[in-house]
Amino acid sequence: MPNISIKTSAEIEKMRVAGRLAASVLDMIGDHVHAGVTTDELNTICHEFIVGKLDAIPAPLNYRGFPKSICTSVNNVVCHGIPGPRTLKKGDIVNIDVTVIKDEFHGDTSRMYFVGKPSIKAARLTRVCYESMMIGIETIKAGTTLGDLGHAVQKHAEASGYSVVREFCGHGIGRNFHEDPHVLHYGKPGTGIELVPGMTITVEPMVNAGKKETRTLADNWTVVTKDGCLSAQWEHTVLVTQSGHEILTLSNSSEPA
Ligand code: MF3
Ligand code: CO
Ligand code: CO
Repeated sequence: MPNISIKTSAEIEKMRVAGRLAASVLDMIGDHVHAGVTTDELNTICHEFIVGKLDAIPAPLNYRGFPKSICTSVNNVVCHGIPGPRTLKKGDIVNIDVTVIKDEFHGDTSRMYFVGKPSIKAARLTRVCYESMMIGIETIKAGTTLGDLGHAVQKHAEASGYSVVREFCGHGIGRNFHEDPHVLHYGKPGTGIELVPGMTITVEPMVNAGKKETRTLADNWTVVTKDGCLSAQWEHTVLVTQSGHEILTLSNSSEPA
């Protein structure tokens, strides 16, 4: 049985703060994503901002041995890309995934960024992935099952001709980075556990332009599409409420460019 924490109102207030700070990192980094920048430079800028400006902790750093403070996943990289010497070039699409710890609580969010002008295909994949995340989030209220949520995400992605990655999923979040339950981005309506007010979960679908299969590189982190096609991902941290939900990682620029 999953062990799902229900947050108290004081804990929810801390989750709101952590979520807002995580979103502010993504707002800040947008201006730095351009041709010629390395993913390690993006990592350094985010790290300094999180530690120096926000007085927060970058949760990925040293998490299960992850060596950097953010994940940067470019083009065919599905998730968990490690910032490094790779230089971004015009036409690349990159997911930046930020998780901060503030006052012992986690906020986890990611967005897609375009380097220069994206191809029509890349822009459509990015948009459909964003829509899939939001359609999933819109199902969230007391009594929604995780199957209802996953099904809604999957239906939109697949109706658009894309596939949904199975090996990685959303998660409960709070004092721990990854808590129960697993939040799958596919499923059958009416199956799985019911959401209860006070749960905080992430919705973070990875949508592939080609087939759903992935493989992990020799660095034991970087996940790529098996067929080499593009992949996109967006992520919000969301609070379940009686009548609906509250997205904790929203900002003025949390939509596709
Ligand atoms: N931020 C990712 C998530 O959404 C997890 C990254 S784990 C790391 O769950 F170790 F790669 F940072
Ligand atoms: Co997450
Ligand atoms: Co994340």
